Amino acid sequence: MPPSLEGKVTVVTGASSGIGRAAALALARAGSRVVVAARREAKLQTLVDEISAAGGEAFAITTDVTDEEQVRALIEGAVERFGGIDCAFNNAGIEGPSKPAHTYSSEEFMQVLDVNCLGTFLCMKYEIEHMVENGGGAIVNDASVAGLRGMPRQVAYSASKHAVIGMTKVAALDYGGNGIRVNAVCPGFTDTDMVDRLTGGDPQRAERLAAYSPMGRLGTVEEVANAVVWLCSDESSFTNGEAMVLDGGLSA
Ligand SMILES: NC(=O)c1ccc[n+]([C@@H]2O[C@H](COP(=O)([O-])OP(=O)(O)OC[C@H]3O[C@@H](n4cnc5c(N)ncnc54)[C@H](O)[C@@H]3O)[C@@H](O)[C@H]2O)c1
Repeated sequence: MPPSLEGKVTVVTGASSGIGRAAALALARAGSRVVVAARREAKLQTLVDEISAAGGEAFAITTDVTDEEQVRALIEGAVERFGGIDCAFNNAGIEGPSKPAHTYSSEEFMQVLDVNCLGTFLCMKYEIEHMVENGGGAIVNDASVAGLRGMPRQVAYSASKHAVIGMTKVAALDYGGNGIRVNAVCPGFTDTDMVDRLTGGDPQRAERLAAYSPMGRLGTVEEVANAVVWLCSDESSFTNGEAMVLDGGLSA
């Protein structure tokens, strides 16, 4: 039986596309009420309508995760609307340009760190503040295999995802005593807009990325979403500080 999130409330950032969108749908299917956040309001509303049509309950709050006031308003809005937050999937992220490290400008580098590190930090900060008061919770951060090993031509992305795993581990240590579990998922190449941007939409380049995995294919958004549901659920009640690899064996 799939894990149940009946009675829970989950916040998902970067929910307007890709892994975040699939996770919001899967969390709702598992019974959670879902607060979906990203910058693109129309896409969020389409997702809310889709969840409602399937019998779930969702609410959208337009949020840029690099803006502290907007993140604070997201968490406050979620608590106001649904009475509390039990789980969060901090998924919003960008890849930045694909090029050798020495050609990166400091602006390009910091832009990636702003979304992936500062954004994840701000979300955790306000989620944890609420969860400490609420008596517990489960947080999942979206890291990457690039948080465990270097990804060529992605200096900022790899640095940021190593940092996401670092923050995940520290928060797991700091708040395990408060009943808050903090884990990360580390997807390999997954079939989303991000991979389309990395390959420039060239199917041959996509095939080369797929070939890095011994399974010879890209991951699907549903495969990541299933792990997020499990990590949010009580089925993973002793899993804390884990960086769960979902890469078809690429890093084995
Ligand atoms: N696709 C992959 O191969 C892959 C692999 C490992 C990890 N990831 C991670 O998965 C996450 C989702 O990426 P995806 O592959 O679904 O790509 P995507 O581009 O479809 O999704 C990224 C989401 O983040 C949102 N976002 C970006 N900047 C934001 C900001 N400042 N505030 C709020 N939302 C913002 C985007 O609007 C989008 O909804 C990212 O953190 C990414 O690093 C992806």
